[in-house]
Parts: sequence; structure tokens; C-alpha cells
Amino acid sequence: MKPYEKLLLANKAWANEKVQDDPEYFSRLAHIQTPKFLWIGCSDSRVPANEITGTQPGEIFVHRNVANMVVHTDLNLLTVLDYAVRALKVEHIIVCGHHGCGGVRAAMTQHDMGIANKWLRNIKDVYRFHRQEVDGIISDDQKIDRMVELNVQEQVMNLAKTSVVQRAWKHEQRPHLHGWVYDLKDGIINPVCEMPAGTDLQDIYEYDDL
Ligand code: CO
Repeated sequence: MKPYEKLLLANKAWANEKVQDDPEYFSRLAHIQTPKFLWIGCSDSRVPANEITGTQPGEIFVHRNVANMVVHTDLNLLTVLDYAVRALKVEHIIVCGHHGCGGVRAAMTQHDMGIANKWLRNIKDVYRFHRQEVDGIISDDQKIDRMVELNVQEQVMNLAKTSVVQRAWKHEQRPHLHGWVYDLKDGIINPVCEMPAGTDLQDIYEYDDL
């Protein structure tokens, strides 16, 4: 059997099991999608959103990219964000990084990564903002892990800077923003920051005509 054929076989077994437990499972899911959460996570195969949070299909709207970034020129992210906030009306947006993130590790080197340079440069900016603290950490692994936490904080801040989030904050007092970090070593998610709807930002980032 070819490796990909195993996936299709496992899929059939999964679908069968679901229907045996609950005959209406798929017909119910097919008609309605009302997730309360938007998850912005890393593409890393070891950090699957549903599995590590014990959630089922239908419960989390998911966007993943290298190093869980919120980049204001990323049409993909913006489309997901706009749809999740305006149409699905999610209550919470979670940015979830993970210790040992390869994207953050790569950004902390001076290697030319080709096309990825442009993406990773956003993480280099996070390092520039927090250089004093990060340079004070001696262990390389701890340095990366602290950068992962700081990066999550910056990406939560980037969400708050969008007019999509600010408009929903102003008119509907949601969504609440959360920054989490998943630890690959023990499987535990640790919250690192939170921005409840309506949190004050520096004036320059706040739009006054939403
Ligand atoms: Co990663």
C-alpha cells in the first residue's frame, strides 16, 4: 500500500466510526458551522489544533502558517480573519505558538532562506523590539522559546491593530484575543497573554471612525 492510501483507508474507518456512534453526525455538520473560536497556529505537523484542544469538527475555525504570524499584507490571513469575525462571529481568537518553532529558529539566524526571508523578517522585527531581553538569555534553546512567547504577544497585538477586530470590539464587544504557547515536550498549552475586547491600544493604532 502506498503511504497516501493509508490516509484514505483511515478516513473511511473514521467516517464509519462516527456514523456508528451518531447516525446524524455528518448531516448535522454539513448544514451548519458555528465555531466559537478562530485558531491561528503554526503549520508544524506536531501541533494539530483540534487534537491538542480536544475539540471536534465544527468547533474551531483554523488558519495555520509558518510561525503563526498575523501579517497585515497577508490576504489569506485577512480573509480568514474577516470571515471568522464578521460572518461566523467568533468569540475568541487564539494565536498559538509552540516551543522549538523551526520558523522562529530560522529567523534568529542570518541564513538566506530564499523566498522565506520575506516571511521570517517579521519575526526578526519582533527580535529587534525585544533585543535587550532576548540577548540576555544564555541558552540558545531558551532564547528561541522566549522569542516564541514574544512573537505570540506581537501577533496578538497585530490582530488588535486590524480594523476588522476593532470594529467588532466597538459594536459587539468581541472577540477576545489570546496568546498561547504549546510545549512539545509535555503537550501542555500555556497562556502567555490576553487582550479582552475593547482593550486600549496606543492611540496611533486606534481607528476613530469605525
Ligand atoms: Co512552528
